[in-house]
Amino acid sequence: MVPITKDWLKQYGQEHLLNFESHWTTEQRLKVLAQLASIDFDLIRRLAANNSEELDGSRLASMADPPPSVRIGQEHRQFSSQSAKQAGEAALRSGQIGMILVAGGQGTRLGFDRPKGLFSIGPISGRTLFQMHIDRLLAVMKRYEVSIPMYVMTSPATDAETRAYFDQESRLGLKADQLNIFCQGTMPAIDATSGRILLSGPTEIAVSPDGHGGLVSAMASSGCFEHARKRGIDHFFYAQVDNPLVEVCDPLLIGYHLLSHSQMTTQVVRKRFPKEKVGNVVSVEGKVQIIEYSDLPDTVAEQILPDGSLKLWAGNIAVHVFDRGFLESVVESIDGLPFHRASKAVPFVDDAGKLVKPVSPNAIKFERFIFDLLPLAERAFVVEADATKVFAPVKNADGESVDTPADTRRALLALHRHWLTIAGAKVKDGVSVEVHPNWALDLDDVRKKITPGLLFEADTYLR
Ligand code: UD1
Repeated sequence: MVPITKDWLKQYGQEHLLNFESHWTTEQRLKVLAQLASIDFDLIRRLAANNSEELDGSRLASMADPPPSVRIGQEHRQFSSQSAKQAGEAALRSGQIGMILVAGGQGTRLGFDRPKGLFSIGPISGRTLFQMHIDRLLAVMKRYEVSIPMYVMTSPATDAETRAYFDQESRLGLKADQLNIFCQGTMPAIDATSGRILLSGPTEIAVSPDGHGGLVSAMASSGCFEHARKRGIDHFFYAQVDNPLVEVCDPLLIGYHLLSHSQMTTQVVRKRFPKEKVGNVVSVEGKVQIIEYSDLPDTVAEQILPDGSLKLWAGNIAVHVFDRGFLESVVESIDGLPFHRASKAVPFVDDAGKLVKPVSPNAIKFERFIFDLLPLAERAFVVEADATKVFAPVKNADGESVDTPADTRRALLALHRHWLTIAGAKVKDGVSVEVHPNWALDLDDVRKKITPGLLFEADTYLR
């Protein structure tokens, strides 16, 4: 390895990173050099020069069509929903499925300064987001009499606290070999004008998580792929920690994935309005891909079909099924995943060693998105689900207009009320009933437990 010196850094215009070296202790020197050694300076130079790496969202959007998909209430021309569900159930029963939960983001918009998975969301139970997912996973394991390993991705900002939480809470009921926590990587932030990497302190590079696209290399380097391979896990069900409505390991979605030999399968919902803050699942030149809401021009988002419905209707809820072999095959070519740029206000130490706290964006942060794997897949598959049953993410603080904790709790209660009502029970107006997955995982389970006419007159937690 080349020794990192001021002269060596000069070729990249990054020699300022050693500006304060004369003040460092040996320990600090080792720490900074280790940080510098982990940076791909050629890549940073390319990104700073803004060539080829950036996606041209508007160009893509102008060519976008709705994706081929199985819509709600329709049958696929090749495989019936019944055969898909059976195939998914068989794969679950035979232990081929693992679950990935991404939980590396910080709840900045939510105003919660701990890992989001620790946020209490159960309307009556107060269960955390992590608990909601794991309770469902445990119920799925019970139903199919199988062990399903869970792979939880953290980031440097959430890793230690997440691990401590799972330790304290006895892994929320998962066995030791069912829980695998791994940490994603980081990317340096650069000054938007000069391209210089920012220092957050005299001995600290300013870095941020490399996006959920960092999952692939992090799973490889942490040994998670090997763990899965050894256990015969051929497919992963993937979800985000912020959505407690996810139908964990949905056999129907898994089944469509298997029958179509898809490498990446995506569950979508019908967008409620053109500029809803969800990624847009589209087809461009025959390839399924996702255009983020921020990259979709209004004129494209607002296109409507003769029947009045949105042309680009398919919203990404970040629920996917991946073929393990596909994910592993892209580890080598992970440089092919594009970087998305975000302008941010990032505090930094200037050449005089003074901390500057900008009030407007001064820096660029780089992130990769897992869904940019879609166009790399030779075969991809899209399935529509009903948003009221599968999607109520916790994004914003209470008081905001959408995706607040109150909205999510309302959606959970509405779904559970719906199950009970269909099963023949009566829930008085204004009464809340929360269903724990161990009591009933879905409507079929509720039907088995409820005597028609049963009346809920007071708030109840069925567990
Ligand atoms: C995301 C999707 C959007 C989708 C929406 C559904 C992106 C860029 N967009 O939007 O298409 O419609 O969810 O809810 O993802 N995370 C990490 N590491 C990171 C960054 C994020 O693990 O470096 C995790 C977060 O913990 C979170 C999830 O990824 O669980 C989504 O991140 P977030 O930034 O909240 O994405 P959204 O903008 O809400």
